[in-house]
Amino acid sequence: MRVMVIGDIVGRAGRETACALVPRLRRERSVDFVVANAENAAGVAGLTPEIARDLLDDAGIDVLTLGNHAWAKREIYPMAGSEPRLLRPANFSPEAPGRGAGIFRCAAGQVAVLNVQGRIFMDPVADPFATCDALVASLAQETSVIIVDIHAEATSEKQALAWHLDGRVSAVVGTHTHVQTADERVTAGGTACITDLGMTGAVRSILGVTPEPVLRRFITGMPERFEAAAGPSALCGVLLEVEAVGGRALSIDRLQVRA
Ligand SMILES: [Fe+2]
Ligand SMILES: [Fe+2]
Repeated sequence: MRVMVIGDIVGRAGRETACALVPRLRRERSVDFVVANAENAAGVAGLTPEIARDLLDDAGIDVLTLGNHAWAKREIYPMAGSEPRLLRPANFSPEAPGRGAGIFRCAAGQVAVLNVQGRIFMDPVADPFATCDALVASLAQETSVIIVDIHAEATSEKQALAWHLDGRVSAVVGTHTHVQTADERVTAGGTACITDLGMTGAVRSILGVTPEPVLRRFITGMPERFEAAAGPSALCGVLLEVEAVGGRALSIDRLQVRA
C-alpha cells in the first residue's frame, strides 16, 4: 500500500498546489491513500467547511488532520463533529468537537489515521504518549496499518513519540514547523518516521506567510496583520510504502514538488 502524507497546507497557494498536484501524484506514484494536514488551509490559520470540501473532493485527499490552529475559524466546529474524514488532535479536550482517529478503506486495504498534538512550547493538551497508547491498542484491533500525525513544535518530542510507538504503528510523521526535516528512516521495527513533513504553500514566504509583516514584527515588536503568501509554491510530504497486511513500513521517501 502506498500512502502519501502531506505537510501543513497554507492558504490559497497551498490549496491550489494540493488541488493541482495530489491527483497527478496519485496517478504517477500509484498512491492508494492520501493524508494532509490542513490546519492552515484557510488564510494562515484554521479551516472552513468549503475549503475542507475542496481538499477532500477536488484534490482527492482521503483524510485531513489539524493541529493547534484547528479552531481558528469557528465555521469548522460543526463539520469537525460530523465529517469522519476530518480529524483534530485526539488529545484535545473531550468537550471539543470532532475526533482524533479514524479507520478508512482504500483499494489496497484499511488504514487508520491518528492525529495528536505535542505539549512542548504549545497550548496545554492531554498526554500525547498515553493518548496514543490507548488509541493504537483499539485501532490495531481493526487494522495493522496505522499512520500517526504528531503535530508538535519540539523535534525531541516528535522523535520520542516515534521511539515510543516503534513497531506498533506504520508511520509517525511530524507536522507544525512547516520546515521539512531530512531525518526520514524506517526503524528495524517497521515504523517509518520523519520529524517534520514541511509545508505546502508559497516558497517566497516565512513558513507560508508573506515575509514583510513577519519581518516588521520581529524588528519592531509591534503587532502586524499576517496573510498567506502568494506565488510559486511547493508540496512537501512523504511517500510511504506499507505492507497492507502486517502494517510494516517498507520505505519512506521525502517529497518536495514544485507546482
Ligand atoms: Fe501549521
Ligand atoms: Fe501548527
